[in-house]
Amino acid sequence: MKTKVVILTILLFNTILFAISGEEVFENKCASCHTYYIPQKKLNQNYEQNNTVLKLKAPTLTELSFRLKDQVGDRTTDAEGQKFEIEEFLADYLKYPSKEKSVQRKEIRHIFPQMPPVNVDEDETEALADFMYEYAEKMMVEHGVKRYSYDEALRIAEKEKKIILIEGFIPFCRGCIWMDRNVMVEPEVKAALNKDFVLVKKNLLVEKLPLGMKRLGTPSFYFISSDGKRVLEMVEGTGTVEEYLELLSSVKSKVK
Ligand code: HEC
Repeated sequence: MKTKVVILTILLFNTILFAISGEEVFENKCASCHTYYIPQKKLNQNYEQNNTVLKLKAPTLTELSFRLKDQVGDRTTDAEGQKFEIEEFLADYLKYPSKEKSVQRKEIRHIFPQMPPVNVDEDETEALADFMYEYAEKMMVEHGVKRYSYDEALRIAEKEKKIILIEGFIPFCRGCIWMDRNVMVEPEVKAALNKDFVLVKKNLLVEKLPLGMKRLGTPSFYFISSDGKRVLEMVEGTGTVEEYLELLSSVKSKVK
């Protein structure tokens, strides 16, 4: 009995010690061509000028992650289910890459050459699928402004005289992902948000809005005065960086 426990413990330790990290596999086998993250606005400028600005070798990991999640398998199933489908896609694609299987946006496909096959085993592929699936969300948290719970936001807003901004989303809402990826992480928007706003994100499928506000479609943005008592503005939809900056400054002017 005792030896069994010992053996089991050793086995368990082994799997923990030798569990493959998708991040490491990516760093070793993919990062020589695929950069991790570049703000979308810069990327767009680069693609408009036929990749002459950044001279990328391949799409960024961020782009791959968003596209895999959007294009491979069923994005509305649970994460584990979709990760499995992404793993299958990768297993095939890394062995036999081909333009026909591409999940990239049509407009940028002509920019890059064909990817050469890359040798990865089954465990590495599984780890990669996991890492690449999670990266999109990780990137939005890492590169976006800090998010708070509503209670925290109330305290900070009151103390620092900031406006509370609730970003309302629902999972799988493409417009919400688009805003997070293209607008909320851009340096000018982050600077404006950090200066005068406190950000709260709410999943409107399961979370209620404060002050009896009725939810709009998603994505939507709800601005509340720093004392937490007054709705300053509610807007629905997506917009460019410039439009969003304009919205922020118009809301700011309401409290002056
Ligand atoms: C020698 C450079 C190079 C290496 C190394 C490399 N890739 Fe790529 N990869 C590319 C290029 C170039 C493209 C774009 C080709 C295309 O769109 O057909 C690409 C495209 C992709 C795509 C998108 C497929 C699509 O829809 O177009 C995936 C997914 C991908 N790579 C994953 C990986 C992973 C995972 C690794 C590491 C195991 C890796 N790549 C290593 C150059 C590379």
